[in-house]
Amino acid sequence: MKILGIETSCDECSVALLTFEKSNTFGSISVDSLNTFSQIEIHRPYGGVVPEIASRNHLETFPYVLQEVLKNIPHPKEAIDLIAVTNRPGLVGALLVGVTAAKSLAYAWEKPLVAVHHLEGHLASLFLGNDLLDHFELPCLVAVISGGHTQLHLLRAPPWKWTENTYQESRISFSLDDAAGEAFDKCGKILGLPYPAGREIDVLAQNGNADAYPLPKALKQKDNFNFSFSGLKTAFANQVTEARKRAEKKGQTFEAVLPDLCASVQSAIIDQIVSKILTAAKFHRCRSIGIVGGVAANSLLRLRMQREWSGNLYFPKLEFCTDNAAMIGLAGLFQFIRAGALNHTARLDLNAIAYPDLENRNAQ
Ligand code: KG4
Ligand code: ZN
Repeated sequence: MKILGIETSCDECSVALLTFEKSNTFGSISVDSLNTFSQIEIHRPYGGVVPEIASRNHLETFPYVLQEVLKNIPHPKEAIDLIAVTNRPGLVGALLVGVTAAKSLAYAWEKPLVAVHHLEGHLASLFLGNDLLDHFELPCLVAVISGGHTQLHLLRAPPWKWTENTYQESRISFSLDDAAGEAFDKCGKILGLPYPAGREIDVLAQNGNADAYPLPKALKQKDNFNFSFSGLKTAFANQVTEARKRAEKKGQTFEAVLPDLCASVQSAIIDQIVSKILTAAKFHRCRSIGIVGGVAANSLLRLRMQREWSGNLYFPKLEFCTDNAAMIGLAGLFQFIRAGALNHTARLDLNAIAYPDLENRNAQ
């Protein structure tokens, strides 16, 4: 069976084609093709994503991103069995582009359409590019750590048994203010680094001393796994002001102290993430830990988790950590399997939703 995944919730315009082959246990999944156009360069001068520019760019780019994925599929109407699209949460104008495209394709090709929660897509990304579905150890604590979200999920069932409420019900904590990726990006902005700054801080930190600038440590509470990064950001801004003055006095350039500043802030952010993940995993007696989302690419996070967690540890491949349509296609497949047969007109009323859940607009 072939699944077409579509993701346009923020600043990545992405289309993927996946193949699912059923087996006695569950089956195998392969990503035949994944094409992602990142708008990062377009938004960089503004220091963040500009919603209207994002939507307009998706509108222009989507047909070409799709065309590339389908270039070796002469008869997509015959080849494709299911269409999965992100419809929540995200920038509403950006989501509308993917949702409209997905509805048009489902209508024209007479195929079933499923709506995917973006964060459920991140959870599904754990199972891309590996054979984890065959030996997934439960319970598993999954940390979703991206530019928009930082939260822990306690998974007690394999993905093909997830229900439509799994995303909400499995979440055991979230960030009370900024997301971890947002903290990297805001601290990067204080340093004058281009947006998004996570990767650059990671690279610069390789040559820095993490103890050079003391920053507040995460509160170690045994049964509270919520995150908070805003205090850290304020303390860091003060440290940077002092560091600039000191560098000037010594006749040093600010660039010379950047590696130490990056290493210090990276260490403080990652320390909080690692400490919350490990405390929650031990508290809930988890047999495995999975880490997904853009910040899962961070080298210190990977190193510290490998050193400090002796159970099973799952990270998706780097290309599946950041926003991509392959994870949406896979989450859509899991949903399709649990729904049973779906008529191709079943979801033609689908709409885009900015918030993660309809009842509570403040929910993460
Ligand atoms: O999951 P993602 O692609 O987009 C969202 O859904 O938010 O995550 C993007 C975030 C950005 O904040 C970026 O700075 C951060 O992931 N990021 C990193 C690294 N690579 C990307 N943060 C720390 N270290 C990295 N190597
Ligand atoms: Zn994301």
